[in-house]
Amino acid sequence: MKIITIKAASAAEKSVVRCRKKVMEKALPAALNGYRGALIFTDTNVYGLYGKKLARYLPGVPVFAMPAGEKNKNAETLFSLLGAMAEAGLHRDSVLVALGGGVVGDVGGLAAALYMRGIACIQVPTTLLAQVDSSVGGKTAIDFRGVKNLVGAFRQPALVLADPAFFGTLPRREICCGLGEIVKHGALSAPLFERLVSAPDLFDLGFLAGIVPENIAFKADVVRRDPHETGLRKCLNLGHTTGHAIELCTDLSHGECVLIGLIFEAELAKKYAVCDGAYLDELIALCKRVLSCDLRSVDVSAAAELARLDKKNETNGRVVVCAPRARASYALLTLGYGEYAHALAEIKEKLC
Ligand SMILES: NC(=O)c1ccc[n+]([C@@H]2O[C@H](COP(=O)([O-])OP(=O)(O)OC[C@H]3O[C@@H](n4cnc5c(N)ncnc54)[C@H](O)[C@@H]3O)[C@@H](O)[C@H]2O)c1
Ligand SMILES: [Zn+2]
Repeated sequence: MKIITIKAASAAEKSVVRCRKKVMEKALPAALNGYRGALIFTDTNVYGLYGKKLARYLPGVPVFAMPAGEKNKNAETLFSLLGAMAEAGLHRDSVLVALGGGVVGDVGGLAAALYMRGIACIQVPTTLLAQVDSSVGGKTAIDFRGVKNLVGAFRQPALVLADPAFFGTLPRREICCGLGEIVKHGALSAPLFERLVSAPDLFDLGFLAGIVPENIAFKADVVRRDPHETGLRKCLNLGHTTGHAIELCTDLSHGECVLIGLIFEAELAKKYAVCDGAYLDELIALCKRVLSCDLRSVDVSAAAELARLDKKNETNGRVVVCAPRARASYALLTLGYGEYAHALAEIKEKLC
């Protein structure tokens, strides 16, 4: 077992992350003992897979399941959940358990932050992405008026219980999605990078179980040092400027787009920054080992336009990119829109 403590902005907002086996059977029932009432929040897919276990190991604890999928990460789901929390009679000293992927974690975390001005939340992340990324760090949100994560709050969960047994039911594409964020962490942490490049099979479930704690510790350390994303935490946006823009104009998953974003931004660093070209080639090869999609399908001119329109990375017609530069090192590149669009087209030509 590994316990990682994240100390957030206020001393009261501490979060404990435990990597454990048999979470449903032991750790979760034990954790609920300390609270005066609980509600389990999950989605329909996870409930279909793990509902029987819930009934067996947590008999009598009410369950509320949202329809699965990002399109339901919205105000309607949030308010239905708040209604279920009220109906279950949750008090200030009760707990909400968010059992699922990043969607359940984000909506559940926000509902727990709002209900009675904030009750405890235990995150039980069931996807690889949720274990290494979304459940750690205290960012909660729903999508609103067509804008992703527009309404949310920073609030650390009381406890995160990460169990690799959940990976056994994950489709390969969801593993790929989590690996996108893991490779991104690897681009920021030299020891993790070494483990990734020397792994014979990145999709091996035993290997993944072994690297989850290291990924959580890495993200937790960045969050501890910058809980409200005023500086250092922005490094976690590596590959994401181009990745997010590609995500908006394809049906590829977030993790696949992060990997493509890392490839394009590594090439941008070769062109515009002082960098270690041999290392960047190694990073690109690592991304390609995980990706199964064809880079030829990426519409780079649409992506460049979407990056320009994204207020998060646009300053006066210029696009800001957080690009990998050398081992565990990144560069903030500020490029004119035309220059960025032209470079993406050139890179695609070179890669395909
Ligand atoms: N809060 C943060 O810091 C943060 C960081 C990164 C991503 N996110 C958010 O996370 C979300 C993406 O998370 P995700 O990739 O986990 O998506 P998700 O929650 O939609 O889960 C992906 C799919 O896998 C299913 N699933 C979950 N666990 C399963 C299991 N063990 N076996 C089989 N199927 C399972 C889900 O029902 C869903 O269909 C996005 O909304 C994103 O904005 C948040
Ligand atoms: Zn991401």
